[in-house]
Amino acid sequence: MSAVVVIGAQWGDEGKGKVVDIFTQYADAVVRYAGGANAGHTLVVDGKKMVLHLVPSGALHPEKTCVVGPGTVVDPAALLAETAALRSQGLLGPGRLIVSDRAQVVLPIHKLVDGLREDGAGDGAIGTTRRGIGPAYEDKSGRRGVRMGDLLVADRLAQKLELNWASWAPIIEHLGGEVPDQQAALAELLELGKALTDVIGDTTSYIHQALERGERILLEGAQGTLLDVDHGTYPFVTSSNPTSGGACTGAGVGPTHIDTVVGITKAYTTRVGAGPFPTELHGQEGEDLRQAGSEFGATTGRPRRCGWLDAVALRYAVRVNGCTSLALTKMDVLTGLKRLQICVGYELNGTRIDSVPADDLDALTPIYEELEGWEEDLGSARDIDELPAAARAYLARIEELVHCPVTLVSVGPGRAQTIAVTDPFATQK
Ligand code: IMP
Repeated sequence: MSAVVVIGAQWGDEGKGKVVDIFTQYADAVVRYAGGANAGHTLVVDGKKMVLHLVPSGALHPEKTCVVGPGTVVDPAALLAETAALRSQGLLGPGRLIVSDRAQVVLPIHKLVDGLREDGAGDGAIGTTRRGIGPAYEDKSGRRGVRMGDLLVADRLAQKLELNWASWAPIIEHLGGEVPDQQAALAELLELGKALTDVIGDTTSYIHQALERGERILLEGAQGTLLDVDHGTYPFVTSSNPTSGGACTGAGVGPTHIDTVVGITKAYTTRVGAGPFPTELHGQEGEDLRQAGSEFGATTGRPRRCGWLDAVALRYAVRVNGCTSLALTKMDVLTGLKRLQICVGYELNGTRIDSVPADDLDALTPIYEELEGWEEDLGSARDIDELPAAARAYLARIEELVHCPVTLVSVGPGRAQTIAVTDPFATQK
């Protein structure tokens, strides 16, 4: 009975890929449980950068099993391209990838609708990744979704596409788009199904049996808490539950299996896409942070919005997810800033609040506490004690403000540039 969840504690892009890659050494299998190819998990190994969108970040460990669970939405063409790239490097050998037959399929029609809606929304655009995520989850909730298992059964797939086209065609026409050819889509999807036959399977039974054998399962979140459809900055969110509760529904494991939830946060905050961001830095300060942290989207290449660490939002994430520890990434990026600000509260219409409200986030004025910065390069530090005193004070203050211990600190993109790595499975309650 041993499962650990890794979640994003901000608006995504916290560096989950690197942390999951490191934790994979302690796990037997790594499971993606939500979202789809909207995610971009960046890994840097031996100086080489790799971005994964659908396959779990455990993929660089050839002896581990990678699972894409029922709660995800899978673009089969993107999956095929990603697996081919990994296999060409000798990774993801036979049996090392299982994609749930229950997972929803992202159809080309979903991507079309996502793009048309964004194009037509003007100032109201969400700034989605245009990967068809919202429309795919709409079909799932509308009980007309195509699932990965359907790609292997021609009659069933044809029937489902019928329903699907009936539902989307009027919307596409209304949005001024051209309805794609249903028969061509059917043929293409059946081809993709054939190419993916060896990886589509019953991940739910696989995970249950693995847990019964005493194996260790690492559940990998995508996106972040503030993008959660229930707990995030709605409606500027993704359409899934990236939070730890989503790990249970999305992988098919009960909460009693999960003892440890590691929240990943940057040492500052970023966001891509539209929506409220109370601690955003406009102007040169934000630009400096963006350049120092190479803050450009791994999936879309869009510049990320940058700002100070928001301890109120982080404490909210710790509570929503039940985090037992935090991993703090990109601490090295803060080097050279004379003073650092941490948001410790908000002011809303003249009143101080210490929690994240459901609405009116645009009207919040952050209340900052100022801390001393540091000049030293952190990239070669390998122990907390090797960090400058000001950096240690910054960490200690975060722990105090969010009521959660920081048990891992990342000081650079490489695997080795990580401080205080401990086996997350060894810290179970
Ligand atoms: P969607 O998930 O493509 O529908 O996009 C909805 C919102 O989530 C947009 O603001 C995206 O920028 C954001 N988003 C989706 N995936 C990621 C991610 O992996 N990292 C950061 N933001 C994301």
